Amino acid sequence: MSERSSEPKLVEASNMQSWNGGVFPLAYTGGSRDSSGLPTALVTWLVHNKEMLKQQATEHGAILFRDFGLAGPEDFDRLIAALAIANFPYRESLSNAVRKNFTDRVFSANEAPSSVKIYLHHEMAQTPVFPSVILFYCDQAAEQGGATPICRSDVLYESVLKSHPKFIQELESKGLKYSNVMPGVDDPESGMGRSWQSTLGVQSKNAAETRLARLNYSWDWLAGDSLRATTPVLPAVRTLVDGRKTLFNQLIAAYAGWSDDRNDPSSAIRLGDNTKLSADPVRTLIDKAYEITYDLVWQTGDAVLIDNTLVMHGRRPFEGERRVLASLGGKQTHAFA
Ligand code: FE2
Repeated sequence: MSERSSEPKLVEASNMQSWNGGVFPLAYTGGSRDSSGLPTALVTWLVHNKEMLKQQATEHGAILFRDFGLAGPEDFDRLIAALAIANFPYRESLSNAVRKNFTDRVFSANEAPSSVKIYLHHEMAQTPVFPSVILFYCDQAAEQGGATPICRSDVLYESVLKSHPKFIQELESKGLKYSNVMPGVDDPESGMGRSWQSTLGVQSKNAAETRLARLNYSWDWLAGDSLRATTPVLPAVRTLVDGRKTLFNQLIAAYAGWSDDRNDPSSAIRLGDNTKLSADPVRTLIDKAYEITYDLVWQTGDAVLIDNTLVMHGRRPFEGERRVLASLGGKQTHAFA
């Protein structure tokens, strides 16, 4: 019991990175190795230190909570509540992934099959409204693979600015537009198979059109009751409050990964003036992102708090059962949506 009353400690995450003197990710151990539930002492510590922890997440990009005794979705929910993070419910989002809800703010990360690689992305950067933070909790680690890659978008911005300054300047001045095709009914075989009814929170085509018009989207109806929706021009670069710039956009996932029976990645993304992106700098950007990516190798019971405007995340393929749950917090709107 005396172990339990001691405060969580900062530890070095394995293969931890260091950017401009700051570690990535920052990691705390709660000293509670048995998964018998989140101890009250740790809840108290989280409550007392929530402002410091949120500040650290903003600075470092990600905080790993290991050995906090988390034993299920309710414990994960308690951790989020202790940090006083405002809920951004999945059902109100325009996310294109199919998910399952566990509590009001906890849902499955993505129901796509285990062989599907989910490319690096900022959660919902391709929609006008997006969460400030995303949290993950590992309820069961996979037998093989299944790490969550995370990547510092400010570091990526600096790197691509050096190698392809004109490309970055074009992204900054023109912004990006995204197109995706939503099915008439949820397609759990796809990483982006959420139906248009569920995505837009509507029952009829008329209501879908009203919602899209309000969001400044354009659209067309396709065979099989599918709906292609194109966003207004959205910013491709974001300046954080401390002045750092990040590639807060959905370029990598849309260009490399938005592929299923309905979607062709080559038509998923355009510059704001409708011109195509040049393949060469995009390839460099994607390669560089994966080069600087940190693989978060899950231990059952881990939770992580990620600043969504600073850090991208994805999913490595895996074998065996893997249950990683997610939660979204804070609501922000793009500058020129
Ligand atoms: Fe995601």
